[in-house]
Amino acid sequence: MRKLRLGDLPKHSPWPARLLGLDDWEEEPGYGGIGVSTYDEVYGNLLALARENPEMDFREVQRSANHYAEESPVPISRAEDLFLVDVDEKQELQDEALVASLAGSLSGGETVVALGCGWGYELGVLADAYPDCEFVGGDPTENGVALGRELFGDHDRIRIEPFDFRDDRWNLLESVLADEEGSEDEGDAEADDVVLFTQGSLTALPSVREIVSETLTRYSDRVQVGVHLEHVRELHPEDSLLGQLRRSYTDRRDYNDDLLTSLRDADELDVTATTYDVVGGNPLHPLSEVRWEPA
Ligand SMILES: C[S@@+](CC[C@H](N)C(=O)[O-])C[C@H]1O[C@@H](n2cnc3c(N)ncnc32)[C@H](O)[C@@H]1O
Repeated sequence: MRKLRLGDLPKHSPWPARLLGLDDWEEEPGYGGIGVSTYDEVYGNLLALARENPEMDFREVQRSANHYAEESPVPISRAEDLFLVDVDEKQELQDEALVASLAGSLSGGETVVALGCGWGYELGVLADAYPDCEFVGGDPTENGVALGRELFGDHDRIRIEPFDFRDDRWNLLESVLADEEGSEDEGDAEADDVVLFTQGSLTALPSVREIVSETLTRYSDRVQVGVHLEHVRELHPEDSLLGQLRRSYTDRRDYNDDLLTSLRDADELDVTATTYDVVGGNPLHPLSEVRWEPA
């Protein structure tokens, strides 16, 4: 892991030139904002790869996707410092951040509901790290759900179902909450607590205000804690070059700019912590952590 100066980022990322209008880059239609079909296509390719290579486990599928997408060394960020790392090390750092984000919330027996989990790579990493917890993932992509089932179908603590944030009711979360409440009613002292988790999926929506105020808050009082590892525009400093490039990146790609303010505005929950730039697989689009608890 080598330190990278912001001034040298253009040598390793096309984004500074794109954002400054120095090349002819145009956003692919449908990629920014919702873009479910784009994810579905990517997951479809990985599904074909997994079916052709049934000996590959979930980590090998992800590794293959990473090496197809990028060549070492690649730029990353952590806490507003930039580094050059190799592709596998980048994945390790992202996995570490993922596992650490739930460390204070999982003591054993909890069920983590991961919304927008893609094909479920994050479920596999978390299930390895937390052997006493269960993991239920949801994603709107048919190929994502199919690939998750292909790779984790016989895993007794991982389940993947169709899910869309834009639905009026989140049936997936309702079913997990109902199971848990049913166990409590039957006097099961070991009834699971439910942890709501997202990683990089709320980002995919151009705005999350209504989703937070109309849907998430309907369930928040029955959840132990919410943990989001997301790209949070509101945390980007207004007065640093890196912060300004990051704000510009979010705007150009039509990703949401209202996750943190929407959560803070919701009376039903209290945002208890934010950590800026936990890790940036794209240094101009880092993941930050936001945690909340029922009010
Ligand atoms: C950047 S990927 C992140 C996937 C996974 N959480 C991870 O960290 O690897 C964004 C995910 O958000 C999902 N997504 C997009 N729109 C969504 C929606 N309306 N409801 C739920 N998930 C959505 C996509 O299908 C995709 O899997």
